Amino acid sequence: MADTLRAAATAARDRAYCPYSGFAVGAALEADDGRIFTGCNVENASFGLTLCAERNALVTAVARSFRRLVVVAGSDPPVAPCGACRQVLVEFGVTLEIEGVGPTGSRHWRLADLLPDAFGPELRGQHE
Ligand code: THU
Repeated sequence: MADTLRAAATAARDRAYCPYSGFAVGAALEADDGRIFTGCNVENASFGLTLCAERNALVTAVARSFRRLVVVAGSDPPVAPCGACRQVLVEFGVTLEIEGVGPTGSRHWRLADLLPDAFGPELRGQHE
């Protein structure tokens, strides 16, 4: 199954639009029911509007509950989701298992460890 996710993320990476950075990223997000959603990074001349592969996979999904995410890039060490993507992913649960895949190997994380003490939906509305 991990191979399936890696293949999906690698295929998504082929669709990356990254003329400014030249850094192509693909992501495959597996829902609790087994469905797989993919995304690639899509850059913009207005740099701040660039969308990361992980967030594109997330917003493509109809699912609301996820278990695994694989991110494929050409970097060594492999890419972990950026801070913005961690925050958006945590909206849908901190138990997500994440694998970063690069040309020479993989790294594994849990979202809860990548974003400790996250500001998640359970804290919303608890302002003074
Ligand atoms: N990028 C991603 O798509 N995901 C990550 O986890 C890290 C960075 C993209 C954003 C930008 O298009 C390029 O990689 C360089 O930062």
